[in-house]
Amino acid sequence: MSPAPDDGERALERARALLRPDELRASARTDAGYLDLLRDEGSPRPTAAQHAMNNRLVAAVYERAWRPVWTAVMGANGLSAGGERAKAAADLGLGGEQRVLDVACGPGNFTRYFGERLAGEGIAVGFDISRHMLDQAVRTGRGPHAAYVRGDARRLPFDDGTFDAVCCYAALYLVPEPMTVVDEMVRVLAPGGRIAVMTSYGREHPLLRSALGLAAGTLGVRMYDRATLPDAFAAAGLVDVAQQIRGVTQFVNARRP
Ligand SMILES: C[S@@+](CC[C@H](N)C(=O)[O-])C[C@H]1O[C@@H](n2cnc3c(N)ncnc32)[C@H](O)[C@@H]1O
Repeated sequence: MSPAPDDGERALERARALLRPDELRASARTDAGYLDLLRDEGSPRPTAAQHAMNNRLVAAVYERAWRPVWTAVMGANGLSAGGERAKAAADLGLGGEQRVLDVACGPGNFTRYFGERLAGEGIAVGFDISRHMLDQAVRTGRGPHAAYVRGDARRLPFDDGTFDAVCCYAALYLVPEPMTVVDEMVRVLAPGGRIAVMTSYGREHPLLRSALGLAAGTLGVRMYDRATLPDAFAAAGLVDVAQQIRGVTQFVNARRP
């Protein structure tokens, strides 16, 4: 008799059930503990920032060292890592049996927290392109309500309206074609569902603009102005668009009517 699947495997099965049927056929691979929808290494010409995110050492130290330092550099004044997670969960209205998508989840530092806020059939799906990040997520971020999928956020493998909540923190400034990613996140959001993003902010700041532009361009990191993301959400038909700016960080959330 084969052993009963553990909580993590059951969560993975629930994540698998959310994939579009055509994606399901292509995704036989779960041997690493996550569903791998990609056969290659991801971006063919990665920037320095993307390289860093697909590095085993960075993945291992990301949550404890890399992210806190980056948060301090970004000047998200007063918000600790825990504070950021709590803000995301509150802005998304998380709880109960919701389906939650954490786009560009890295080592699962938010996905795990989201999963802990769910119950019953609720599931938080962490989605990322980096094998090293997802290996780390499987080591430290699995649970009865958290599972992981490897793919490219420019083409999310889910039907329209699949998720009650969609999150994307600390990634829109480094993913290629970020507005395609935004369109995809809105597409998979269900009516009544909430979306929350955190990304860079700097374009209106006169002193920071040139220095940040230079550093950002070298690293392959994008700086956003105040209007781009709220405007994109409003243009996509989302309502209750709210923005909070802290240092060179912006948090934007909205709801699908
Ligand atoms: C800085 S980490 C953010 C992790 C986490 N969300 C947080 O707030 O700490 C950015 C993540 O974006 C992922 N990423 C970059 N391009 C991607 C793409 N096209 N599709 C999915 N994930 C991508 C990287 O692999 C990396 O794990």
